[in-house]
Amino acid sequence: MKRIKLFSTLLLLQALSPLSYAGEEVAEAIKLTPNIENGKKTYELCASCHDASGWGKVDGSFPVIAGQHRSVIIKQLIDIRARNRENPTMFPFSGNDVIGGTQGLADIAAYVSQLPKTTNIGKGDGKQLSKGEALFKEKCVTCHGKTGQGDSDSFFPRIQGQHYSYLLRQLQWIRDGRRKNANPAMLALIKNLDDKSLNAIADYVSRIKAEQK
Ligand code: HEC
Ligand code: HEC
Repeated sequence: MKRIKLFSTLLLLQALSPLSYAGEEVAEAIKLTPNIENGKKTYELCASCHDASGWGKVDGSFPVIAGQHRSVIIKQLIDIRARNRENPTMFPFSGNDVIGGTQGLADIAAYVSQLPKTTNIGKGDGKQLSKGEALFKEKCVTCHGKTGQGDSDSFFPRIQGQHYSYLLRQLQWIRDGRRKNANPAMLALIKNLDDKSLNAIADYVSRIKAEQK
């Protein structure tokens, strides 16, 4: 029992270290002073998929990115660019030529993170909400927070105010090893959950109202 505890603490520590997860560029981009006006210009290219509002699509084909933590956006962009998170649809828009180097990443992330959030969120069928709530409280709040608000300093994404189908897809991809940049401690927690359980969690989380900053 003690051993298992030590092991999961080690996993958590590894997951908490930004350098072990995405290299020095993430840390560098976070330190820079962002130019929001430049970020806004770059965003014109992103709007074709994520919408001018940053609210994506209710069917979950494109995620909400408005109001996501700056650190999380920077890390995801670097991971997508490096194919450490497979995203063939977006890959051509993730390059240096589109976003710019480290400063460009800092600019676009600052712009997107201050966009207001939406309440028009795609939800599931609502049939297993109490199961979803119980699983969420048992397995998710230690990292993603009580209301799924995440934590910028620890690179924990905000998952509240996100479309149901996108949440479900990410949970399945993380469980099935299809998302290379998955957090190992999170993977260990969900690897034995079936689709029904993941569905219940995604439905519950999609109904948590996003806090405006
Ligand atoms: C051609 C469509 C398309 C364009 C253009 C596009 N994206 Fe995306 N983006 C996607 C899709 C699809 C996903 C989700 C993929 C998945 O399900 O894993 C995504 C995911 C993301 C994520 C990860 C979200 C999360 O919660 O982890 C971020 C951040 C992001 N996009 C930012 C941007 C930015 C910034 C731009 C402009 C430079 C951009 N995207 C342009 C399609 C696009
Ligand atoms: C040990 C900490 C930890 C725990 C516990 C955890 N997660 Fe995560 N989760 C993370 C981290 C870190 C990421 C981002 C990984 C990366 O960099 O891509 C993540 C990513 C996600 C994503 C993808 C977000 C996006 O915008 O693409 C979803 C959805 C998610 N977690 C849901 C959950 C749910 C639901 C639970 C409970 C069953 C859970 N997580 C438990 C740390 C955790």
